[in-house]
Amino acid sequence: MKLIIDTAEKVAALAADRYTALLDQKPDAVLGLATGSTPLGLYAELVRRCKAGQISFGRVTTFNLDEYVGLDAAHDQSYRYFMNTNLFDQVDIRKDATHVPSGLDTSAAAASAYDEAIKAAGGIDIQLLGIGNNGHLGFNEPGTPFGSTTLVVELTDSTRQAYKRFFASLDQVPTHAVTMGLKTIMNARCIILMALGTAKAEIVKKMVSGDVTPLVPASVLQLHPNVEVYLDH
Ligand code: PGA
Repeated sequence: MKLIIDTAEKVAALAADRYTALLDQKPDAVLGLATGSTPLGLYAELVRRCKAGQISFGRVTTFNLDEYVGLDAAHDQSYRYFMNTNLFDQVDIRKDATHVPSGLDTSAAAASAYDEAIKAAGGIDIQLLGIGNNGHLGFNEPGTPFGSTTLVVELTDSTRQAYKRFFASLDQVPTHAVTMGLKTIMNARCIILMALGTAKAEIVKKMVSGDVTPLVPASVLQLHPNVEVYLDH
């Protein structure tokens, strides 16, 4: 695991440099994307570079990590809506090349079709990740087996509490989500994980140097040969 530690602005720019280099070398790259507060600085920088003509998403394919069960694409807290607003609608990407798991089709067939679509696209070149305070990746909560592929999960109380800020009340926070599994994530050729703020310090330490255990899902990344972790001080 390579650690890159600087200010939040600088790590967003350094992570954007990785995407710029990838897209120069492979314009039809496959990107695994994430939602949450953490990647917003990176997305803003990618939008800026695209508008400045420095990068193009014209041939890129994307797969997002996760989606809330029960929210359709038009819901302003759905992850499809988040991605459209913060990235896709602002760059030159083909919308039909962007994939976010459906929050409305929770069938096993839909979950396995998501994994198959990633494979058919050639696999993910860079998977972007945040980390939950409980060590979750995507919505793989503590206890999820490392071998999991895309699946429907029940959200823990701590995750629902952490996301309550985006909803009118706790009851409105969905109880389930569809998420790429840990194995799906680990199949990416490169992983960029970003974490900002003191509240993430303890879990980042466990991820980097604690036991490798499903109780800390992000610890599985110690087993991946190509992980870059972007942190503020
Ligand atoms: P955050 O979410 O970027 O909003 O902190 C990260 C996560 O829960 O995976």
